[in-house]
Amino acid sequence: MSHDPLKLAVIVGSTREGRFGPTVTKWFTGQASQREDLTVDVIDLAETPLPTVFPQFGQSQGEEVERQLAAVSPRLAAADAFVIVTPEYNHSFPAPLKNAIDWHNEEWHAKPVGFVSYGGLAGGLRAVEQLRVVLAELHAVTIRDTVSFHNSWAEFEEDGTHRDGAGCEAAAKTMLDQLAWWAHALRDAKSVRPYAA
Ligand SMILES: Cc1cc2nc3c(=O)[nH]c(=O)nc-3n(C[C@H](O)[C@H](O)[C@H](O)COP(=O)(O)O)c2cc1C
Repeated sequence: MSHDPLKLAVIVGSTREGRFGPTVTKWFTGQASQREDLTVDVIDLAETPLPTVFPQFGQSQGEEVERQLAAVSPRLAAADAFVIVTPEYNHSFPAPLKNAIDWHNEEWHAKPVGFVSYGGLAGGLRAVEQLRVVLAELHAVTIRDTVSFHNSWAEFEEDGTHRDGAGCEAAAKTMLDQLAWWAHALRDAKSVRPYAA
């Protein structure tokens, strides 16, 4: 059983110009980095774009594709747990996020995934529901409790602080406690027996 801090990869799912995602991510990483039981690596898909054309099965990916993947894949592989920060786009989650998920496979196996979502009235919850279905296919374990920001642009001050700090801080703690429980349980289990994918 390892007592090392958990490696948490926070994936920023929106790449839109002028996006709100960094405000939400900064708030969330501010919460996560207060904890001593985990370290945080932010993977911003706007800074590390991945190709949208996949190679033929069994064919080499080419140098440029390898270079782009090298900025993301090893960090996903190293993570013990993930939090996906996602907006809602048309009842779902953004296409670049699906692309990043689809480029990988074993990197997701037997690892927990928590969600911080934002959007209009639905607070990104429909994006989260769709992500749960996708991630089950990749042998990931999704965390029940989430953090969601409804009409998110009205909830944050200019400086990125949240207007109702206590409520969403409590939600982040609940989600991270559940995520850490699963991450420890799965990391310990995999150290005894490889995951049977
Ligand atoms: C293409 C697109 C589709 C959207 N669809 C929805 C939606 O179905 N439900 C919703 O609540 N908000 C929707 N929104 C609003 C976004 O969730 C909101 O603008 C959010 O801030 C977008 O995240 P971003 O600023 O990080 O890109 C949509 C926004 C865009 C750009």
